[in-house]
Amino acid sequence: MKILITDGISPEGAKILTEAGHDVDQVKYTPEELLVNIGKYDCIIVRSATKVTKEVIEAGKNLKVIARGGVGLDNIDVEVAKAKNLLVLNTPGASAISVAELAIGHMFALSRFLHISKMDMLAGKWPKKEYSKGIELHGKTLGVMGFGNIGKEVARMALGLGMNVMAYDPPFTLMDFVVRITTREKLLAEADFITLHIPVDKKGGPAIGKKELEMMKKGVIIVNCARGGVVDEVALLDALESGKVGGVALDVFVNEPPTEAQQALIKHPRVSVSPHIGGSTVEGQERVGIEIAQRVVKAFNPDAFH
Ligand SMILES: NC(=O)c1ccc[n+]([C@@H]2O[C@H](COP(=O)([O-])OP(=O)(O)OC[C@H]3O[C@@H](n4cnc5c(N)ncnc54)[C@H](O)[C@@H]3O)[C@@H](O)[C@H]2O)c1
Repeated sequence: MKILITDGISPEGAKILTEAGHDVDQVKYTPEELLVNIGKYDCIIVRSATKVTKEVIEAGKNLKVIARGGVGLDNIDVEVAKAKNLLVLNTPGASAISVAELAIGHMFALSRFLHISKMDMLAGKWPKKEYSKGIELHGKTLGVMGFGNIGKEVARMALGLGMNVMAYDPPFTLMDFVVRITTREKLLAEADFITLHIPVDKKGGPAIGKKELEMMKKGVIIVNCARGGVVDEVALLDALESGKVGGVALDVFVNEPPTEAQQALIKHPRVSVSPHIGGSTVEGQERVGIEIAQRVVKAFNPDAFH
């Protein structure tokens, strides 16, 4: 089959495709070039950058498989693809450890001022006194909202750190390891740290808005390594400024890259940020590449890897 890879793939992943006999092109087309060239391919493999729009799918006369290395399918018009009977694949678990480690990293950053002490020291300050009132994660209660691949990984790591972990996810009632499955209300009210690992609810709006922030403990630390839009950024800034929220970590934003209007939140001294790199580690990318390549090979040959 003729396969187009637009946003790159790990060498291990590319090797799996070529060893299975596929003809692989790795080309970063502009959106216009993609429309002209997509007709040649049976399969397109993307990450986040390439948008597989209705127009791309319609121009892809030979397309059978659309594959995304990553969790969400935000950049693929899944409805149009399904209506045309195309197979849409992704790599649900491959980046879970990477995202979970980043979420925990942000918790450490906020509780020990790591996100800001380097900036101060670069400016020639020695803020020993200001930053001597950090807190330990050990013994604190972590509320995990969304107990899927990433949420579970965060919970495992947090238990290892000696945190008390409570989780809320509607489909779960029992777990195979020691976390307290709780209600949304209890999680919001009791957690010292809240980490979000849920999808965006396009119809229902942000899962964390003004009302939910009011239900939380004073000084709570909130981590969003899920998707921009899961949290209401305006309400979050208000809650930081009022002192209700003690710290915020964001890997994802409503607009990426963020606009001028989002700078007040990003620049707030109690906000730790990263530029949507949750799944982007060497190991995570390698796993994503291998998993997506194997899934594509299997889509064209169900007997592969038996
Ligand atoms: N920062 C990054 O680079 C990065 C990388 C990968 C994934 N993500 C994002 O992380 C999030 C979680 O990914 P995942 O792989 O764990 O997904 P998953 O599908 O394995 O788990 C999501 C869980 O959230 C639950 N859920 C949905 N709505 C909920 C709500 N309102 N309250 C509580 N639980 C709810 C679902 O039942 C499900 O169990 C997604 O938004 C994904 O797009 C971010």
